[in-house]
Formats: sequence, structure tokens, C-alpha cells
Amino acid sequence: MINFDEFFRQLADSDHPLHPFAEQINTTINSIYTPYSHGDEISWQQAIEQLPELSTESTDLNSSAVTARGAVSENQQQQLHKALMGLHPWRKGPFDLFDVYIDTEWRSDWKWQRVAAHLGSLRYKNILDVGCGSGYHCLRMAGAGANTVVGIDPSLKFLYQFKAINYYTQANNVHLLPLKSEQLPYRMQCFDTVFSMGVLYHRKSPFEHLEELKYTLKPGGQLVLETLVVDGGLHTVLVPDDRYAQMRNVWFLPSCDELLRWVERAGFINAKVVDVDTTKLEEQRSTDWMNYQSLQDFLDPNDHAKTVEGYQAPTRATIIATRK
Ligand SMILES: C[S@@+](CC[C@H](N)C(=O)[O-])C[C@H]1O[C@@H](n2cnc3c(N)ncnc32)[C@H](O)[C@@H]1O
Repeated sequence: MINFDEFFRQLADSDHPLHPFAEQINTTINSIYTPYSHGDEISWQQAIEQLPELSTESTDLNSSAVTARGAVSENQQQQLHKALMGLHPWRKGPFDLFDVYIDTEWRSDWKWQRVAAHLGSLRYKNILDVGCGSGYHCLRMAGAGANTVVGIDPSLKFLYQFKAINYYTQANNVHLLPLKSEQLPYRMQCFDTVFSMGVLYHRKSPFEHLEELKYTLKPGGQLVLETLVVDGGLHTVLVPDDRYAQMRNVWFLPSCDELLRWVERAGFINAKVVDVDTTKLEEQRSTDWMNYQSLQDFLDPNDHAKTVEGYQAPTRATIIATRK
């Protein structure tokens, strides 16, 4: 099972930025997470129990593959590989644990490289990463010197993947919680920076999401918003008829200008687009660690500028803004 004891032990310190919310977060987690009620959770727990006991001699949270190193035998590497494969599919990474390289579907390091260049220092910051997946970016934030990183994601399997990784990387200031942003305490106003990457287009109400993000931040805090966009000017928004790049739960894809307007109407200032990037086939692809379909199968085979549904191929913008 996922155990949150260390997180709540740290929150008991009255200087911890989340201290005032400990009880509320605990109640919410208890109301939504009943261990082993998910049919696959027992097999994920078994994968964790099969991880070999290895002593981490050094870690590197600043390289493209989040890394843990130490002495390891070939036998232990095979055991590690097998246990980690029990948590297939691995979507967000890459990771390198004792020379077992987890080549994830996404080169999440490419996104981090595009985004991190525009953030300023994360040193001593208290950070929330909404929709954090396996926690890859959370670990990179810790590598950049953050004080505390809280990642939230409703997908329990990602929490198990993080548990496996952090068993070796041992970043005890990074915590993943099985929450949606709608389930966070109201108006926490305690984070210096909030990231929402790859989440806005999954929300039926983008303004509610922007408002949730705003109230997690202290006044003057920084929003880092990454989402799918389309070409066009103000008042241009794509609402797919049904699926978008085979994804069912995609709702609003604005143009960059329209997205800036949303962010400012939601109460942020100094909003600017710092990056726009069309996802390349090398950035999202099937690998041994994610052997289902990937981007190549979601694009028009005769025209990679379009999705199989005929929409503009996935293009992502990053916006940075400040809470008033
Ligand atoms: C496309 S992935 C992005 C993962 C990662 N942030 C990245 O950029 O690579 C979107 C993630 O958001 C999570 N998610 C969806 N709705 C959410 C919500 N309301 N609150 C928090 N996370 C959410 C999903 O479970 C999924 O892991």
C-alpha cells in the first residue's frame, strides 16, 4: 500500500508550509484511498516487494535520466529489471537505477529542458506539481534545489512507480499524493510555484482549473502552465468532436493568445508564452518499457502535421505568470 506517514510526520512541524492543512489532507486521502480497492494494486505492491535491497551511494536528480548509483551484481540488476517491469507501462521518465535504464514512453527531460530555462531559481521554493505522473519532474525540481515538492495525481499506479524510484533516489522532500487539484484544501496559498503540465486540456472547465491553481499560490507566486494549443489568434479554441490524438478526455485547446487571455482573466499578471513546441516522434514513442501504441499511431500516417482525427498535431505551449 502507499504509506503517507513520512509526509505527515514532516507536516507535524509547525514551520512546514503545509502544516495548517495536515488534518484536512489526511481526511481527504482517507476518503478517496482505500488500500487494495484497485484491482491491480496487489500486483503493484508485489513489484515493490521484489525490489532488491541495494545501497544507494549517489544520486543525480539533475541529469536527463534521474539516477541512483551503487554497487550491484548482475543478478540484482535482473531482479531490479523484473520488479520494475511489474509496474509497466512506464510513461514519464527516463530513470537510471543501478544501470537499469527505464526508457519511458516520454522523454520528459525534453519538456523539463524547455520549461526550466524560463523559471528562475527553484532553490528553497515550496512547489506543487499538479498532474505529476510518476514524479519525474518533481525529482528534477528537487534537483534544482526546491525545499519541498508535493506532486498530486489521481492515478495510483504513478504513485507506485514513484515509490519504486524513490526507494533508491531517497529524496525525502518529495511527496506524491493521490489527489486531484479539485480535492486540495481551498485557498492553501502556501506554494511559491505551481506547475500544471498536461492537465488543463483534460479539464471540462479550464477556468476552474486556473482558479484552483491560483489559490494554491502565495500572492506573487509563480504559475507554470503547459498545455496543448492550436494555431490562431484571440478567440480561437478547438473543442474536439470526440477524441483528439485518440485521447477521449480532451476538451479545450486554445491558441496561445487566447490562453494568455484566460490566464489573465483568471487573475494572473505578467503572463507570457515562453515556449511553443510540436511534439516530435522521438519525444513520445513506444519502448520496451511502454509497449502500447504511442504518438506515431495517433497521427495521420500520410501527414504527420495532423492527428488521425484530422486536427492539428499535438503542439504544446508553456506559459509563465504571476499571482496578483
Ligand atoms: C498528460 S499527463 C502529464 C504528466 C506530467 N505533468 C507531464 O507533463 O509529463 C496528465 C496527468 O494529469 C493527471 N490529472 C488529470 N486530471 C487531474 C486533476 N484534476 N488533478 C490532478 N491531476 C490530474 C493525470 O492522471 C495524468 O497523470
